[in-house]
Amino acid sequence: MNSSPSSSNPVELDTTKLPTHVAIIMDGNGRWAKKRLLNRINGHEKGSETVRTIVRTCRKIGIPYLTLYAFSTENWQRPKTEVEALMVLLKKFLQSERKEMVENNIRLRMIGQLDRLPTKVRQALDQTMTATREKTGMNLVLALSYGGRAEIVRMVQEVTEKIKRGIIEPEAVDEGLISDHLYTRDIPDPDLLIRTSGEMRISNFLLWQIAYTELFVTQTLWPDFSKEEFLQILKDFQDRVRRFGAV
Ligand code: IPE
Ligand code: IPE
Ligand code: MG
Repeated sequence: MNSSPSSSNPVELDTTKLPTHVAIIMDGNGRWAKKRLLNRINGHEKGSETVRTIVRTCRKIGIPYLTLYAFSTENWQRPKTEVEALMVLLKKFLQSERKEMVENNIRLRMIGQLDRLPTKVRQALDQTMTATREKTGMNLVLALSYGGRAEIVRMVQEVTEKIKRGIIEPEAVDEGLISDHLYTRDIPDPDLLIRTSGEMRISNFLLWQIAYTELFVTQTLWPDFSKEEFLQILKDFQDRVRRFGAV
């Protein structure tokens, strides 16, 4: 893991060595608000502006997949008012960004427990996913009511059901088959995982998929995370040597 990048020079990226998939744990909205004596909700609002900035940046430089951890299975335990405010913000985001996503050839996808989301959020999500289904410029994947363990449980249930019904042989269970039964079945594993606001943990995000992902933790709180810092992290990623267990 690494600390915050320090360079303030314009970042020169090697466009032939960009990550295919960047995943981000967008953390620190509450702390951002607290520092300013604001409500946590104000932090989430400010955080949604950062989402816009980072999506635009990925689209512009040509990163094919961006996955954002927006709401975890554990986040349902937060106070009802905060959960509701987050759902309202999410719905607003899905509606307000629809046109821009269509115009910029961005496909919206989601991973997580769709059925736990409020109907209004589900409708907005469905509309935006449908409107962008044929888009090929970039995939924006929102992790909503997502938990890595819940995803694995669901996969095991699906696979065992198929074995029970004779659709697959137990011997056919291998890494590829497991990957094919996760939410991320047609999404490549992340090359780079960024977590903002300094916590050195995974918080139940993409447990299976990050086996060989490069990790980057920055102290910056999500609402303060900028395009410049993002580019600097991509530069740092390009300088890393990925061995995948080989020499
Ligand atoms: C991340 O910010 C947003 C969500 C988890 C929805 P937090 O709300 O976790 O902010 P902190 O960690 O309390 O600062
Ligand atoms: C992780 O942040 C989840 C999201 C960013 C959606 P949390 O704030 O929920 O994680 P913990 O509680 O610090 O592990
Ligand atoms: Mg947090």
